[in-house]
Amino acid sequence: MTIETKAPMSGKIVLVTGATNGIGKAAALELARMGAQVVLVGRSRPKTEATVSEIFKKTGNNALDYIVADLALMSGIRQTVEAFLQKYDHLHVLINNVGGIFAQREVTAEGLEMTFALNHIGYFLLTNLLLDVLKASAPARVVNVSSDAHRFGALNLSDLQSEQSYGMGGFRAYSQSKLMNVMFTYELAQRLEGTGVTTNAMHPGAVATGFGRNNRGMIGFIFRSFGHFSLTPEQGADTVVYLASSPDVDDVTGKYFDRRKAVLSSSHSYDEAAARRLWEISAELTGIASPQPTA
Ligand SMILES: NC(=O)c1ccc[n+]([C@@H]2O[C@H](COP(=O)([O-])OP(=O)(O)OC[C@H]3O[C@@H](n4cnc5c(N)ncnc54)[C@H](OP(=O)(O)O)[C@@H]3O)[C@@H](O)[C@H]2O)c1
Repeated sequence: MTIETKAPMSGKIVLVTGATNGIGKAAALELARMGAQVVLVGRSRPKTEATVSEIFKKTGNNALDYIVADLALMSGIRQTVEAFLQKYDHLHVLINNVGGIFAQREVTAEGLEMTFALNHIGYFLLTNLLLDVLKASAPARVVNVSSDAHRFGALNLSDLQSEQSYGMGGFRAYSQSKLMNVMFTYELAQRLEGTGVTTNAMHPGAVATGFGRNNRGMIGFIFRSFGHFSLTPEQGADTVVYLASSPDVDDVTGKYFDRRKAVLSSSHSYDEAAARRLWEISAELTGIASPQPTA
């Protein structure tokens, strides 16, 4: 298949995390089909290279690139940004999609709880380190893949890493991390006011992907069985692609989307003081000099 000359995303550079499977892979493929230059981030070199070849074969788009990094590690996030900035001076769309649920509490080599590290810091640090290039590329967009699981989450600022209460099957830590994605989006939108960079969070639906299948025992079994009544990755990626590319949302920022519609997120997610505190704690943990709110 060849790229149409007036492909709607031609000239746009898009970075997608968690691009080797599920929703991220489907979004990367669709955006490549739309003519974007897509940079895929994956954790396994062979799998990432195979994904790039598959997308090339399916779309004919040869403006594909990849970075291999472990996004559960802050060092991996920094390597990703370094590798990206060595080659590119523009970034029009950042899709923060990487994520997972971990039945047993795990701690990364850097000492952070895995769900918090991958699902929240994996978005927070990557975005912050790319803010300058996003602003320089405005209009630009940041799309954060959250989940309706955030509705079950409550932000415990004194237990962000779920040391006191991890929850059955990791679900409490997961729902809290997905709430962090929504609150991070709202806080980021405020900090980006007037920059031409928008940011929105979204729920992809219940999608048959590799999600949760990393776990053993009952939790892994439940996720493997889930596939029978789920959306396809392409359906799950639809709102991601919409938020990344549609002129309908050119000026829309700081919203939570489900099936291409802005909907209300949980009442907890609108706690601005908590969102600001989450930002401050995350900035401290990651060692970034965070930009000040423009308002
Ligand atoms: N599936 C659903 O029903 C559902 C519902 C709501 C929200 N979501 C959200 O959707 C997002 C994508 O999930 P998915 O369902 O597409 O899951 P998935 O099929 O498991 O894909 C996850 C992607 O993240 C990558 N990844 C995992 N750990 C990584 C790490 N440490 N470093 C770098 N990359 C890593 C995986 O790489 P490998 O290919 O190497 O495994 C894969 O590319 C997540 O944020 C999830 O919370 C999913």
